[in-house]
Amino acid sequence: MSGNTAQSWGTGAKAFHWIMAIMILLEAPIGYVMSHTYSPGSGSARIKGLHDVASMVHHTNGLLILALVLFRLGWRSTHPAPDLPAALATYQRVLARVTQGLLYALMIALPLSGWVALSVLADSAQFGKTAIWFFGTDSFPRLPFITPLGPTDPAGYSTFGRLHVTTFYVGCGVLALHAIGAFWHHLVRRDGVLWAMWPSPDARR
Ligand code: HEM
Ligand code: HEM
Repeated sequence: MSGNTAQSWGTGAKAFHWIMAIMILLEAPIGYVMSHTYSPGSGSARIKGLHDVASMVHHTNGLLILALVLFRLGWRSTHPAPDLPAALATYQRVLARVTQGLLYALMIALPLSGWVALSVLADSAQFGKTAIWFFGTDSFPRLPFITPLGPTDPAGYSTFGRLHVTTFYVGCGVLALHAIGAFWHHLVRRDGVLWAMWPSPDARR
């Protein structure tokens, strides 16, 4: 696995970037399917089946994203980023690095807020035995230091669920800025910044 050079991202950084981008971009629609098929008590068996599968995939993929980003940050600390083009103004460099830093923070905050929301709900007296899918029913790994509270408790699921969804909207804004920046480099500046992250072994600026 080749490392980063001054001109280009290495295989490791590219693999982390694009595999995680795909995992995150799939996570969002699966989250919507999960939350729009939740119909306790009523609902058809098919809709419940869809909800259970979407839940299992959303929670498993989300916790994998959390594990991967922690691993990626460790890896990143020993692999410095390639130089940005010398012609960029200082504010443009700062904007690029702040946006990327925020994306790292969001890759932690987003799954963590979902995990806290479910940990506060799971095994609470009102909600009952954990029926949240993670690889299979009854295997959801609750965060141990969180006290279970009923679904309607204002300090519980509703607050953290809302926090998770709000964090997601913030993430959409930051990601849009990041993607616009990448295309600006590619189409306006034509300085090879997007090319250097492209998943081809010899793509470089
Ligand atoms: C990068 C990772 C994640 C992304 C992008 C993401 C995204 C989303 C999205 C788009 C929704 C639907 C929001 C809506 O209906 O308005 C959602 C809902 C939800 N997600 Fe996640 N999620 C992530 C990780 C996780 C993890 C790891 C968990 C738990 C282990 C989790 C638990 C939930 C729960 C409980 C809901 C329902 C919230 C509610 O409507 O009250 N998510 N997520
Ligand atoms: C959920 C999706 C995405 C996330 C979370 C994400 C996150 C990141 C992060 C954290 C970095 C900095 C890497 C580091 O310093 O270690 C980065 C770099 C980069 N990303 Fe993304 N990214 C996503 C999607 C995209 C997309 C769709 C594009 C293209 C349109 C893109 C283009 C780039 C480029 C060109 C770089 C290198 C920038 C430079 O050399 O400074 N990313 N991305």
